[in-house]
Amino acid sequence: MPKESREFDVIVYGATGYTGRLVAEYLKDKAGLKWAMAGRSLPSWRKCAT
Ligand SMILES: NC(=O)c1ccc[n+]([C@@H]2O[C@H](COP(=O)([O-])OP(=O)(O)OC[C@H]3O[C@@H](n4cnc5c(N)ncnc54)[C@H](OP(=O)(O)O)[C@@H]3O)[C@@H](O)[C@H]2O)c1
Repeated sequence: MPKESREFDVIVYGATGYTGRLVAEYLKDKAGLKWAMAGRSLPSWRKCAT
């Protein structure tokens, strides 16, 4: 897929885990970067969101 047509620059898969959270913390301050978090488990996401 061409870079220009991508919705996100980076998607952090497994963002509910220890390492994923560190990566998300790092990325959240990167101005202009389009990024997203993804995961497989809704219960994990509920814990992560609180
Ligand atoms: N912790 C460290 O200090 C450290 C240091 C260096 C390298 N690493 C490496 O980094 C990786 C993650 O470690 P961690 O300590 O961050 O682990 P963790 O806290 O247990 O997190 C694992 C993450 O991966 C997801 N996951 C696990 N199995 C999956 C699967 N089959 N499909 C999709 N998602 C899956 C989990 O999602 P769910 O919530 O859905 O389970 C969770 O978000 C490991 O390979 C580890 O060896 C860790």
